[in-house]
Amino acid sequence: MKGIILAGGTATRLFPMTATTSKQLLPVYDRQMIFYPLNTLITAGIKNILIIVAPEHSGQFLNLLGSLFRKYDIHISFEVQSVPRGLAESLILGENHIGDDSVALILGDNIFENDFSAQIKAFKSGGHVFAKKVSDPERFGVVKFNKIIEKPKEWISDYAVTGLYLYDNKCVEMAKKMKPSERGEIEITDINKAYLKKRELEVTLFDGEWLDAGTHNCKRERNFQKFPSNFRKSDRRI
Ligand code: TTP
Repeated sequence: MKGIILAGGTATRLFPMTATTSKQLLPVYDRQMIFYPLNTLITAGIKNILIIVAPEHSGQFLNLLGSLFRKYDIHISFEVQSVPRGLAESLILGENHIGDDSVALILGDNIFENDFSAQIKAFKSGGHVFAKKVSDPERFGVVKFNKIIEKPKEWISDYAVTGLYLYDNKCVEMAKKMKPSERGEIEITDINKAYLKKRELEVTLFDGEWLDAGTHNCKRERNFQKFPSNFRKSDRRI
């Protein structure tokens, strides 16, 4: 299985910190953010990892990671995404890298406590996503048994689809056929929906901590009680 880390994007929500560097190079405790998704993939035995970067920060990524993992027999390569056209564009940019293999795609600003080695090593075909109960589902793609909706305006489910996706080789052709959404992005949710439609999408719920570090108030999701303010209590059906 090949790995892809999405470390492009514009990171507007973390301005002005991201005016001078990439979001994924900002420090989280004792290391740059990108080391966390790298760790998730490397722990699972993935040795070929493509990092999608924005043009203005590509040199910084190369300086940091260009040869760091060579002695561990881990190959890191880079692809510049000229414009942030969406998460699923990485599957098109990564076509040569993926080759005939399957792929583990991870967002460069997602920090997982869990070790997903077992699921990654056991992956055979279709799509596999990892969902987590959150207090602010309106920020994410959410999954409700047989439905995935991108940033829902009305309450649908508290289970966010987190930023680790396992796909078989069909994802490349699927991404090429996708039309951009209203916000001009090739949506990863549409890839997940396509697998769901074919009844080939597996969803795993997990308990460990998960941080989407893309905002200043990224918070731990443990023990949350509050209802999100923009959903009326009566909208909630569970
Ligand atoms: P987002 O947090 O959705 O987008 P962003 O990083 O541009 O931030 P903001 O919304 O604050 O402007 O992206 C999730 C991850 O995917 C993050 O690591 C950046 C990366 N990404 C890409 O590499 N390419 C893209 O086209 C997009 C949209 C995001």
